[in-house]
Amino acid sequence: MTASTGAPAPEQREKWSGQTAFILAAVGSAVGLGNIWRFPGQAYESGGGAFMIPYLIALVTAGIPLLLLENGIGHRFRGSAPLALRRVHKRAEGVGWFQIAVSFVIGLYYTVVIAWAVSFFFFSFNLDYAEDPAGFFIGEYLQLGDEVKLGFDIVPGVMWPLLAIWAIAIIVLALGVHNGVERLNVVGIPLLVVTFIVLAVRAMMLDGAMDGIEALFTPDFSALADINVWIAAYGQVFFSLSLAYGVMITYASYRKKRSNMTAPAFVVAFGNCSFSLLAGFAVFGAIGFLAHEQGVSVAELDGLTGVSLSFITFPAVIAQMPGGPIFGAAFFASLVIAGLTSLISLLQTISAALQDKFGWHPRGSAVAVGLIMATLSVLGFSTTTGLYLLDTVDQWSNQLGIVAGAIGMVAAVMIARRGREIALHLSAVSTLGVGRAWRVLVVGVSLLLTYMLVRKTVELATQGYEGYPGEYLAVFGWGTAGFLVLIAIVLPLMPWHRAIAEFDAWPTEGQLEEAAAGAARKGGA
Ligand code: TRP
Repeated sequence: MTASTGAPAPEQREKWSGQTAFILAAVGSAVGLGNIWRFPGQAYESGGGAFMIPYLIALVTAGIPLLLLENGIGHRFRGSAPLALRRVHKRAEGVGWFQIAVSFVIGLYYTVVIAWAVSFFFFSFNLDYAEDPAGFFIGEYLQLGDEVKLGFDIVPGVMWPLLAIWAIAIIVLALGVHNGVERLNVVGIPLLVVTFIVLAVRAMMLDGAMDGIEALFTPDFSALADINVWIAAYGQVFFSLSLAYGVMITYASYRKKRSNMTAPAFVVAFGNCSFSLLAGFAVFGAIGFLAHEQGVSVAELDGLTGVSLSFITFPAVIAQMPGGPIFGAAFFASLVIAGLTSLISLLQTISAALQDKFGWHPRGSAVAVGLIMATLSVLGFSTTTGLYLLDTVDQWSNQLGIVAGAIGMVAAVMIARRGREIALHLSAVSTLGVGRAWRVLVVGVSLLLTYMLVRKTVELATQGYEGYPGEYLAVFGWGTAGFLVLIAIVLPLMPWHRAIAEFDAWPTEGQLEEAAAGAARKGGA
């Protein structure tokens, strides 16, 4: 890269202790609420066993290619999303900030869901929710107001666990990548997997469990003709692998120079997919039991995904099964662990961006980010109207923001003509090379994403959302989208704390070319 500007000290980036730590952290980010409460219900509604076909195709044609792209960007350009993307192309910094803004918005309410799970962990011991799970969650616990509007009536029962989660998150982040984030994942992920295996086995032994599994996996091949099913599969894969939030770029930037960057992507992708399947068995086994107890068929039950699955349907299962309190506590503890490791990846991504841009110390950055976000999260979401806000902000930031962020990232790489460089880089440092097929897939994915973005935007613009009042959606839905764009425009205008042109790309472009020529001579790649 270009000449020096007073030679700042070479950057001392924090590092993982090794490949396993990186893989566990990436799995920690990927395995979250999406695997437990989104995947099973999504599969059930979208063709059951037949859904595995579009899902696996989406994983291979879009999930893994984008994961490799983020790994490549983060590792080659060694930075948080804004820094790494700026190194990809001078004008792409805003795309990075856009992703950071998405992470910021989502972090505000992701914490709240974890806080609910903390509360429900404790409620499980006495089965406080047993009598009327829906009434308990919506009325007694959330104290949800009837009117969709902004309110500031704080619900203490939600606020306290929320503050506790923020405190834990700030401590983990402040301990740093190696001592905090890495340790949380190295302990948390194995614990989560073991707990969930136990949960799945227990669920399978319940009366009626097999009916649930059958309902989940019976293939309906006609679903494959429905474009919505395919879109759902791609959407689920993007969401589940935590793509386009800048998380994987950031995590890849903490790897040592000589690090295998491709094989771990496959491990993460298939590990995440396996956990989703495991969750499918646990969730639908339990649902089969509930149907059996109520003397209805699985098809007659509601609330098989999302918030209602976890906080209404599952409590109903727990209340009726032998050994419910233990099963319940283990289930909600799993939600907390899965959520916490994802949350940390989100916050680390934001904190890393600010460290790179403004030269903040990791600890200071962690505390600043944590305190600001904790305040907003309490004021906005632990209130009697928090659920409405959560729902609305989630639609716009998750469904629109994530897709737009992915398109911007691919476009930046294409406009800067760095696809080949990144492919060569990945191949040079890794055991498993990537080539032309990968680049073709990445471009293909971006076309698909563009289609998804247009479709969703039109849908939200014309049909609104959940029948919420138009002004409410204008302020908090479209307002969220506006906020994301604003951050993407404003942050690049602010100065970097030091010249960022300096960085020793390794392997150098010359070395990459040589390696490529060598491979061509051997007739490879
Ligand atoms: N992958 C997470 C899940 O399955 C959700 C998620 C999507 C996420 N993007 C993220 C979590 C970014 C943390 C950071 O629940």
